[in-house]
Amino acid sequence: MKNIAVLTSGGDAPGMNACIRAVVKMCLHYGITPYGITDGYQGMITGMFHKMTYRSVDNIIYRGGTVLGTARSEEFRTAEGRSKAAAQLEKHGIDGLVVIGGDGSFTGATLLSKETGIPVIGIPATIDNDIAGTDHTIGYDTALNTVVDAVDKIRDTASSHHRIFFVEVMGRDAGFIALNAAMASGAEAALIPEEVTDIPELVQQIKDQNRGKRSSIIIVAEGDDGGGALQIMEKVRPFLATYELRHSILGHIQRGGVPSAFDRILATRMGAMAVELLREGEHDLMIGANGDQLVTHSIRFGIQQTPVLDRSKLDLLKDLRTKA
Ligand code: F6P
Repeated sequence: MKNIAVLTSGGDAPGMNACIRAVVKMCLHYGITPYGITDGYQGMITGMFHKMTYRSVDNIIYRGGTVLGTARSEEFRTAEGRSKAAAQLEKHGIDGLVVIGGDGSFTGATLLSKETGIPVIGIPATIDNDIAGTDHTIGYDTALNTVVDAVDKIRDTASSHHRIFFVEVMGRDAGFIALNAAMASGAEAALIPEEVTDIPELVQQIKDQNRGKRSSIIIVAEGDDGGGALQIMEKVRPFLATYELRHSILGHIQRGGVPSAFDRILATRMGAMAVELLREGEHDLMIGANGDQLVTHSIRFGIQQTPVLDRSKLDLLKDLRTKA
């Protein structure tokens, strides 16, 4: 193994930089030349490869986003785009690839590896935590803490004005952020894509909750079947005429910011392990965290299996509700 390339792809996630740093430093440790690819698969297609050194990763461990840039490449979804990418890999003599990203990035990685034979290791990084085979994806812990911090602030104003707040968080297909943010911020409910939202039940819950206390926080995952925070608020409004309702969409602040210590450590360990695996001749593997242990699965496993949300947390949230 002489040349290893690393890229970040899909939605950025805090901790990606710590992961890039670990890949680069481990390559240099073993005398391998690390290449960074700018803007994910799109940059691979257009040949944006550059050699990386210790200097390239100075002072990036604490920075959010990704210094390599990222993209969602439509061209890479086509066989023609991938063959251009393959030609660039060959031109630069790349013999191993580390892909840091979410499920879309993993799908691209398996296709590329199947079509070119290049050994690829996938590292799960997305704030949504929606990849099977790992307890945590890089960026999720930071995003969760960002959400909890924002909800704590919203609670101040909600309680001062005796309002019901519907707070929308990211999660197109998965409710990890919504459920765990609701638990950590003491919200009254989490509406998540994994569960059908029952509007009459939600209305009743808000009424029960507000018999003594006059403010409530409901966390809504953007992918909830009942709609986002605004839609849910409008659905309950006719039944809550005497209440003041507000909604707040947290949006992309959830994707940015200084990565937590947890994410930096996870990212560093996973980045280093990816280089070890490539050196050992492994390919088509994703790295996961099982408790404090790092484990591997086929990349296909990460894409095809549904990530498991701990439903006992949902039950606990319901048990903790204020009853009439
Ligand atoms: O990174 C995942 C995610 O945050 C989703 O939860 C969200 O729907 C999506 O990315 C938004 O991404 P973008 O604005 O980059 O299209």
